[in-house]
Amino acid sequence: MARRDHSFICQSCGAVYARWQGKCEACGAWNTIAEEVAVAASVPAAQRSSRKGRAVVLEKLEGTAKPAPRLVSGIGELDRVAGGGFVPGSILLIGGDPGIGKSTLLVQASAALATGGQRVVYVSGEEAVDQVRLRAQRLGLEKADVGLAAETNAENIIATLSGGPPVHMVVIDSIQTMWSDSVESAPGTVTQVRTSAQLLVRFAKQTGACVILVGHVTKDGQIAGPRVVEHMVDAVFSFEGDGGHQFRILRAQKNRFGPTDEIGVFEMTGRGLSEVANPSELFLSNRDAGAPGTAVFAGMEGTRPVLVEIQALVAPSSLGTPRRAVVGWDPNRLSMVLAVLDARCGVRLGGHDVYLNVAGGLRIGEPAADLAVAAALVSSLTGAPLPADAVYFGEASLTGAVRQVSQAPARLKEAAKLGFAGAVIPAGGLDGVEAPVAVTAVSSLAELVAGIAARAPRRPAMRETRSPSGRDATPRAVAHADWPEDEGR
Ligand code: TYD
Ligand code: MG
Repeated sequence: MARRDHSFICQSCGAVYARWQGKCEACGAWNTIAEEVAVAASVPAAQRSSRKGRAVVLEKLEGTAKPAPRLVSGIGELDRVAGGGFVPGSILLIGGDPGIGKSTLLVQASAALATGGQRVVYVSGEEAVDQVRLRAQRLGLEKADVGLAAETNAENIIATLSGGPPVHMVVIDSIQTMWSDSVESAPGTVTQVRTSAQLLVRFAKQTGACVILVGHVTKDGQIAGPRVVEHMVDAVFSFEGDGGHQFRILRAQKNRFGPTDEIGVFEMTGRGLSEVANPSELFLSNRDAGAPGTAVFAGMEGTRPVLVEIQALVAPSSLGTPRRAVVGWDPNRLSMVLAVLDARCGVRLGGHDVYLNVAGGLRIGEPAADLAVAAALVSSLTGAPLPADAVYFGEASLTGAVRQVSQAPARLKEAAKLGFAGAVIPAGGLDGVEAPVAVTAVSSLAELVAGIAARAPRRPAMRETRSPSGRDATPRAVAHADWPEDEGR
């Protein structure tokens, strides 16, 4: 009898099983299935009567009531990612590694909104009131009129918020610590987190308060515990960065009220997070211009151009399967660029270890980085430094052609603003727009490779490359004439 009230739920994705098993078939995670007391039917008995449904009034898309204005914190980078401020009645989730600065960001946002006259409540489930106060003091924000509570029970929180004048914004730090009386599972389990989140979603929709949930992130970058929470909220932001760098990036992964490709850039200082208005300057500082293997990529993050240095290191490998290590870019994309360089340009890297790094800790998702990556790889292989004052962008196709990418004029304008004099871009990408820098148009990767090889101080190591099987790779015809002469072989 009692057994039927128990179910086995994957703590990672929320899939439900009748009995325990080692691996969750839904998300593939191991050892994430835990026994939980089943949720009582979510609709209370009183509402489950056999009455007929009540007809609701259908509305027009065009309403007469003016929507409530967005809550603008004044922290520009945060407001932009949110789509121009927080929407009243919305609920959003901010995920990030421990110690990345989520609490700091939200204390600063709370204080900014409270100073702007909004009623803000900050509920900490992880820290005591004194600890939150200490942080506020350190940030110089202790004067801001923010309501503070250390509480983990969702019903208590909602009761607190419902009494008194309406609240505009509530921060719940973090959702994993919340629990509800209505379910019996232990705090932190999927059922508890989901139920607490549901209660808070209902509170947000009913009262028009904006609720911000903090969520922890697992090693592989997913918001820990239930992915289900991601479906329940209006927006999911991730706060990224790594311990070795002082800057942090807020990225929208889902946003029902704004764009999802915007980023906000912050710098962690001794007095909290400060906004970085011009990220390119930050990412290009400490550049080792003139060293082989580095190329500046002119990328776009949402509506903003961002210049960043791509570093490649290509070294002969002693391993049977050479190493491919990538930081900040998609490893599959690197494999693709390597394959295209091999098949279409005769650049053989099968016997080399390849390391690729996006300087400064930025993570790039754009295929437009292909050209910059290829340039950095060939530059490292040949020892030919790329021109220090040129930027690169363009997408590589499997045929070896270089494809046009969007927003070329904006990328070039940013490059000119930061003092770059040249750009290597896909042919025809400008559509007749006059470029603010000297443009070298390339239509294929082979053309790019030829251009770099012409600058090589030493004979490129390409034709020495042995295939992993140990047999000499057949020398290949290289698709250009000005390749340095093969001497001594
Ligand atoms: P925190 O906001 O507590 O991270 P999270 O809530 O994401 O776990 O930030 C903790 C880190 O931020 C901590 O390592 C110290 C650093 N920090 C600063 O460098 N300057 C500051 O002013 C503050 C408040 C924190
Ligand atoms: Mg915290």
